[in-house]
Amino acid sequence: MSDNGRVSRPPVAAPRPRLPSPLTEVDDDRFARHGVRLFLKRDDLIHPDLIGNKWRKLAPNLAAARGRPLVTFGGAYSNHLRATAAAGRLLDVPTLGIVRGHELADRPLNPSLARCAADGMRLHFVDRSTYRHKTDPDALAALLDAADARDAYVIPEGGSNSLAVQGCTALGHELGDLADVVALACGTGGTLAGLAAGLPAGRRAVGVSVLKGGFLDAEIRALQEAAFGGPRGSWQVEDRFHFGGYARVPAELAAFAEDFEQRHGLPVERLYVAKMLYALVALTAEGAFPRGTRLAAVVTGSPGPDAQSSTSR
Ligand SMILES: Cc1ncc(COP(=O)(O)O)c(C=O)c1O
Repeated sequence: MSDNGRVSRPPVAAPRPRLPSPLTEVDDDRFARHGVRLFLKRDDLIHPDLIGNKWRKLAPNLAAARGRPLVTFGGAYSNHLRATAAAGRLLDVPTLGIVRGHELADRPLNPSLARCAADGMRLHFVDRSTYRHKTDPDALAALLDAADARDAYVIPEGGSNSLAVQGCTALGHELGDLADVVALACGTGGTLAGLAAGLPAGRRAVGVSVLKGGFLDAEIRALQEAAFGGPRGSWQVEDRFHFGGYARVPAELAAFAEDFEQRHGLPVERLYVAKMLYALVALTAEGAFPRGTRLAAVVTGSPGPDAQSSTSR
């Protein structure tokens, strides 16, 4: 029993996670002709419901929550909301999702939110201004009050708190000296902050931002400061491959993703993974990686239930 009277459960959901995730080399002439070897770090295979970086970020938080209800935040297509809802179902823990967009309350749920609801997540829709202020302590307390979730364990948007960042160091440890450069897509930057901290000296991480704005460097520094007490590892953020901003998937990117799927049989998640893979092809063509570089691309997600609609937005 935990001190709040709830049964504390182990943080491991059935089926058990597949860790370390597989690392496979792929044959792709767009890399080979520049002397670069491309590997896929298949974090999308870690767990069927807690896919990719979701397992790495959520597992330490589920342990810390010790069975308390979980509350978290996200937009209408959030992978993180879906993963938290699935964790709640697997661990039999109540979950509450605070969703950006009050207007969504009166519409039929999209496939992503419908999956959250089917997993038992209670959805609480708020207007954009309230959502923006969710990290302010008073605003958060009022929000939890309004949602009847005062005692809940709060996980931030995107799941990137210090525990999550620490959890992502395992990705760097798993890769160790198997790759020279490791690339992944960034939203909040939490996964990159942890990955870079876990890589051995002499290896570096490249984050591809899927958001417009150029603010990620500061965010990642702040996440590392909070998680480790200071900067860790060698990393950089590429800001040129957001394709117009979050959830924008223009035809050129969609065609690139389809082609990559056909070449390599990898289901390519469009909002993050496709932008990262596109960036790697472009950076390699620009000569960003010296001949002989072993480049690992982290597959941080797989196409969700809204895959059809998200590609057309
Ligand atoms: C599939 C996928 N890849 C990458 C990321 C980015 O992770 P982070 O927010 O830690 O930068 C996310 C975030 O939700 C994601 O869903």
